[in-house]
Amino acid sequence: MCGIVGYVGDKESAPILVSGLKKLEYRGYDSAGVAVVSGKQLNVVRAMGKLKNLENRVGQDLPQGTTGIGHTRWATHGRPSDENAHPHTYKNVAVVHNGIIENHLALKEQLRARGHVFSSETDTEVFAHLISEAQEQGKDLPDAVRAAIAQVKGTYALAVVSSADPHRLVCTKNASPMVLGLGEGQNFVASDVPAVLEHTRDFVYMEEGDLAIVSATGVEIFNRQGQKANRSTKRIDWTPMMAEKGGHKHFMHKEIWEQPRAIADTLRGRMLLTEGDVHFEGWNLTPEKVRSLTKVTILACGTSWHSGVAGKHMIESLARLPVEVELASEFRYRDPIVDSTHLAIAISQSGETADTLAAFKEAKGLGATAMAICNVMGSAMTREADISVLTNAGPEIGVASTKAFTTQLVMLYMLAVKLGRLRNTLTVKAAQEHLTHLAEIPKMVEDVLKCEPAVKKVAREFMTAQDFLFLGRGPMHPVALEGALKLKEISYIHAEGYAGGEMKHGPIALIDEKMPVVVIAPKQPHVAYEKIIGNIEEVRARGGKVIAIIDEDDAQAGTLADHVIRIPPASALLAPVVATIPLQLLAYHVAEMRGNDVDQPRNLAKSVTVE
Ligand code: F6R
Repeated sequence: MCGIVGYVGDKESAPILVSGLKKLEYRGYDSAGVAVVSGKQLNVVRAMGKLKNLENRVGQDLPQGTTGIGHTRWATHGRPSDENAHPHTYKNVAVVHNGIIENHLALKEQLRARGHVFSSETDTEVFAHLISEAQEQGKDLPDAVRAAIAQVKGTYALAVVSSADPHRLVCTKNASPMVLGLGEGQNFVASDVPAVLEHTRDFVYMEEGDLAIVSATGVEIFNRQGQKANRSTKRIDWTPMMAEKGGHKHFMHKEIWEQPRAIADTLRGRMLLTEGDVHFEGWNLTPEKVRSLTKVTILACGTSWHSGVAGKHMIESLARLPVEVELASEFRYRDPIVDSTHLAIAISQSGETADTLAAFKEAKGLGATAMAICNVMGSAMTREADISVLTNAGPEIGVASTKAFTTQLVMLYMLAVKLGRLRNTLTVKAAQEHLTHLAEIPKMVEDVLKCEPAVKKVAREFMTAQDFLFLGRGPMHPVALEGALKLKEISYIHAEGYAGGEMKHGPIALIDEKMPVVVIAPKQPHVAYEKIIGNIEEVRARGGKVIAIIDEDDAQAGTLADHVIRIPPASALLAPVVATIPLQLLAYHVAEMRGNDVDQPRNLAKSVTVE
């Protein structure tokens, strides 16, 4: 998500920090800042927008100091603005943070009661206040950081400087990456290796709960229990480009593998298991309003439209509210029926897609309540929306959408549970069961990624195919559509996604021994399992080659298909999240084997801001 860099040494730190942030700009780019300590002085420069803005400000008036921290932000709490840019400061403390503090509202409340005044909308600022308070109680910087993290629930990679301790930097991590870069008479911290690769190739990867005290002459690491820890040093031989991709050959591959983390970040702090409810920051729809809704209209394009189709299954099933899923590019060129009893949901990774934005404005203009499900806070759609909920996938660089899709799916599932509770179509117990299933998804996605070698074999066999067919039923229908879209956009192989039941109405004529057919057939009641098995038999009878995506323990379908990819069994409405992963990998490997530019496929742009 966001990027962190820190420096302690004998050089002016600000230029080193800004140049490190440039290497991390792919991790977040809505605002950036640096905090530099010189003697008793803490100098902070921040700027909204691209890093260039910060670079200009730093260039005009260089903040002096040889100890410093910097950050490039991808907003999760608080819109992109100068005030919400990191570093956040309180008195003589400055912090930069990646991750999410789940209990920040409660902590802010307590701090306010003790006289603290906050100057940003972020969760991060809480750290600066807690650390400063602990310092005032007599703790040194490392102990003050320890005291702060003891009060925080959530994830963090955190770097802290203080003018009370000008020659040291303290950093700590919990479920967000942080590395220490070792130099001669200077040391570095960073959320990612590329930030400081031009200065050193020797890195220590911090472990969960570690706290490091970094000075010009060395680093000391302590484990969660406060004991001194020995962590090995690794020499990194990556090129700067490889480093940006975290060692993966392409951003798309990195982003496919990031999905367990991205999904966990999207769920974090939102699932209230004990209450059987979902918490969305900024939720402003009253129970009466939700009960008065007569329809949901989902507006989206491409992959986001596919997640909308899966969302229809979720919302209709859990909240018993009719859902229409509209191609945004078509919506406003007809005469849509929308009124004030409708909820219009725009789904978009970028939040800038011109067709979706225009359709969203149209629906809002016709009286609908406007909700955005978006990956970019501060984007046009979040500004237009009455209510926005953010997928916390982090920046998606590969043109083919991967982690944005699966995080949209879990977001829609949480929304379905929330609407179900408010409309009393779900009991607390039923909601708890749904949330329990949802909580298992990051682990299942981690497990399903292990199918990569099997998928690669299939890719090798079919990389020269001219056409592909993808079949799925019920909630697996949008998965079939998504599998086909992924394949065609990066491999340039013609592919079609179909609802299994539609095959006999036309596409069956295409099937011969040259046609690979991917059948998505997890064993779920909604998926009409027996019927999809029937589809497999129909394909086989005509000589087609079947690649079946089936549950781990499915003995029946395994014997019918030519190739089998096994996935962990998820509940019916959540199976699309898990079943999509092998299809992303299939598209990736076919395209890669054909020598295509995977991250920037021909004719496509990441954000389609024209009609
Ligand atoms: C496919 C893909 C596109 C986008 C579509 C909408 O991999 O990336 O189909 O899904 O252009 O983009 P967003 O979600 O940014 O509105």
